[in-house]
Amino acid sequence: MAPHPVSVVGGGIIGLSIAWECARRGHDVTVYDPDPGRGASHVAAGMLAPVGESYFGERELTELLLECARRWPAYAAELAAATGHDLGHRTEGTLQVGLTADDLAELRRLWTYQRELGADVLALDGDGLREREPLLNPRARGVLVASDHQVDPRRVVAALRELVPVRREAVRSLSGLDGTVVLAAGCASATLAGLPVRPVQGAVLRLRGQAVPRHVIRGYADGRPVYLVPRRDGEVLVGATVEERADGHATAGGVRDLLRAATDLVPELAEHALAEVSVGQRPGTADNGPIVGRLGPDLLVATGHYRHGVLAAPYTAQAVADLIDGRPLPLLWEPFTPQRPTAGGAR
Ligand code: GLY
Repeated sequence: MAPHPVSVVGGGIIGLSIAWECARRGHDVTVYDPDPGRGASHVAAGMLAPVGESYFGERELTELLLECARRWPAYAAELAAATGHDLGHRTEGTLQVGLTADDLAELRRLWTYQRELGADVLALDGDGLREREPLLNPRARGVLVASDHQVDPRRVVAALRELVPVRREAVRSLSGLDGTVVLAAGCASATLAGLPVRPVQGAVLRLRGQAVPRHVIRGYADGRPVYLVPRRDGEVLVGATVEERADGHATAGGVRDLLRAATDLVPELAEHALAEVSVGQRPGTADNGPIVGRLGPDLLVATGHYRHGVLAAPYTAQAVADLIDGRPLPLLWEPFTPQRPTAGGAR
């Protein structure tokens, strides 16, 4: 395909990944964002967790996300090689754990479902669990999902920003931009193109201290859902609330519940410094699936990634760049076009 001007509206992990992929294919790309990388990508934990984030009734989405996860190791290696950045890509796997009998009953239903999807969900006894993760509460029980990994989204964004030109401008209208326009503006896609994307707010905590778990840990503590994502530099991310609001405020109750669940699962976290409380808006859709495809002859969209933006970024970039290059959307993306009824229907 001959080099082509491409304007990407939105400089989060989705927009930047698309821009890098287009640049790698020789296109002349510009990203527009007044504050690149400071939206949902700045708050995201970076779990690459198609198994842990699989939910009943979302089989097509899980199949897409499993393929997204397969692409991450090569993508992380290429991005690290292109920039020299450490992206915090870690492959120790994820422990899914519960504390009470009710927590474990809920988790067992999920594990059965995850196994039906073909996921490798390895049962561990109490000793096996603590051997892998000595910091866990001795009452915790659970499994290892070796294929659910993590990356640090802030590091990924910093690396991508070195590779693509970003104009720090707010786009108010999609007309007047150069070449093919790709709308990748998360929640702002609703006002820019009338897409049914709504903000689903999430508060995330960042703790700092000496005792840092070895694995991503997720599950329930006395009915409270939580995930813990340890970074090599001593940070432990605790997430996340899921709230149908968009006021940008963390609530005292939300923070209390996250801290209670985190310290119930890993008691030593109570000694950590509470270094940061951040709040972001996940771009949610009616069926929790992304909206990726063509909106017009020179207008493409990649938004609505909800809980899966980091995981789906590399494959989203490939799908969008394929469309720009005149190729069809890869088959796994077909259920997630803007033409499906839950995304507003045919335009
Ligand atoms: N992907 C985790 C979250 O959205 O909280």
